[in-house]
Amino acid sequence: MSDRKLTTRSGQPFANNEHSLTAGERGPVLLQDYQLIEKLAHFDRERIPERVVHAKGSGAMGHFTLTKDMSAYTKADFLNGEGKVTDTFARFSSVAGEKGYPDTARDVHGFALRFYTNDGNYDIVGNNTPVFFINDPLKFPDFIHSQKREPQTGLRSDDMQWDFWANSPESLHQVTILFSDRGFPYGYPYMEGYGSHTYKWVNAKGEQFWVKYHFKTNHGVKNLSPEDATAMMAKDPDWHRHQMFDAIEEGDFPSWTMYVQIIPYEEGLNYKYDIFDVTKVVSQKDYPLIEVGQFVLDHNPGNFFRDVEQAAMSPANLVPGIEASPDKLLQGRLFSYNDTQRYRLGANYQDIPVNRPKKGVNVDTYERDGYMTTNDNGGDSVVYEPNTQGGPVEDHRGDIAGDEVSGKTGAYPAYDQDYTSQPGALYRIMSEEQKEILTQGIADSLGHVKSEENQKKEIALMKQADPDYGKRVEDKIAAIKAAEKK
Ligand code: HEM
Repeated sequence: MSDRKLTTRSGQPFANNEHSLTAGERGPVLLQDYQLIEKLAHFDRERIPERVVHAKGSGAMGHFTLTKDMSAYTKADFLNGEGKVTDTFARFSSVAGEKGYPDTARDVHGFALRFYTNDGNYDIVGNNTPVFFINDPLKFPDFIHSQKREPQTGLRSDDMQWDFWANSPESLHQVTILFSDRGFPYGYPYMEGYGSHTYKWVNAKGEQFWVKYHFKTNHGVKNLSPEDATAMMAKDPDWHRHQMFDAIEEGDFPSWTMYVQIIPYEEGLNYKYDIFDVTKVVSQKDYPLIEVGQFVLDHNPGNFFRDVEQAAMSPANLVPGIEASPDKLLQGRLFSYNDTQRYRLGANYQDIPVNRPKKGVNVDTYERDGYMTTNDNGGDSVVYEPNTQGGPVEDHRGDIAGDEVSGKTGAYPAYDQDYTSQPGALYRIMSEEQKEILTQGIADSLGHVKSEENQKKEIALMKQADPDYGKRVEDKIAAIKAAEKK
């Protein structure tokens, strides 16, 4: 028998948790049974909207240790002072499936990191891939619709996916990564992470640099074979969640070494590829990786819904010394995350414990009220500015360095439309085995779509990247079709 006493949410003793109040032994139930009503009513409201993308994921807490002072490139406090330790949170996820979707279905994987810095929260919301499928935010809803479920059948559809990809040539680089063995990570701790976009760092002198983030796993990259990934979907649909949770409980802490590529400001503007186009990488020969620190996850959240489901990671969580770049896709993201979080979690989502800045960080705004105000709501403090009441004033540590921009407004196509050189180069460095895994994976999916026009378009794109790439896919699709005819 437990010493803990059951109560209602208002603290009244909850007398009977098995039998409703009824008129007589055989019912009916009485409306006066407010304890029954509270229990059912709360249950009826348990579900909140799942994330519109990256719905299935897992999170953990840890810390980041700076092993190399970065003050030459950025004044960001957590990156200044070798040895500095910053508390962190991370959430890893798949993209297209819903909250209960099997972890080992082929997908890109989210790699979202939060740093609880002295200047407020800084989030790097990246993926386990250095590039993305599209480079204009206007296409994101269309892209995601093609990956989710068909309107009539409610089924996921290879036809929709390839219809979008074959007619969006900018997707080829990411498609080439997705259909390689990297589409099936063994577990979250065994995948690399990338910030993907180019961001800007600014140092205390006001000098600006373009930066790309890389996180290399200290456990070695490990992927599942397509057969093992499929078998795991039946055996343990929550395999990634299990694997990471258990590893942390057992003290085998997932960790990554953080690196950056630093690109001088002017050089970046004139680089051979558009560094603000997230479908492209920047060569590590041109800008080698510089080691920055260690990112370690060493404890599991105490409550999944509170700490992981309600986590609101956002590319718009920036701190002094780190700024956005003109990357069009990133600019769309700067709006979208906080917008969806206001819808998904409510206007006061930043007050949820996992989203609050760390203890001691000053939070002082003129924002007030809204559903679920659970902090002191500013008490009796002044609610407008300017004022003579001692309200908070601007903090110019938050000033941005800014960029020169010019040109005529317009709906411009991408500035650099070479979408095949980099996937071609990636294909050529793959081993024979990797080329086979990639082209078989594509053929198994593309080979079953209804539109021959889309098959031809995609194969032509692959041939443009590398003739052998397109030819292998073409031959494998022909073999699949021949076998099906028999
Ligand atoms: C215009 C392009 C994009 C838009 C509009 C967009 C939008 C969104 C939205 C609305 C969410 C749900 C957020 C939430 O409910 O908390 C989300 C989650 C996420 N997105 Fe994007 N996204 C875009 C591109 C990208 C790119 C390029 C990356 C990676 C480089 C990325 C990585 C992620 C990750 C990791 C999450 C899950 C965050 C978490 O774990 O809570 N997204 N995205």
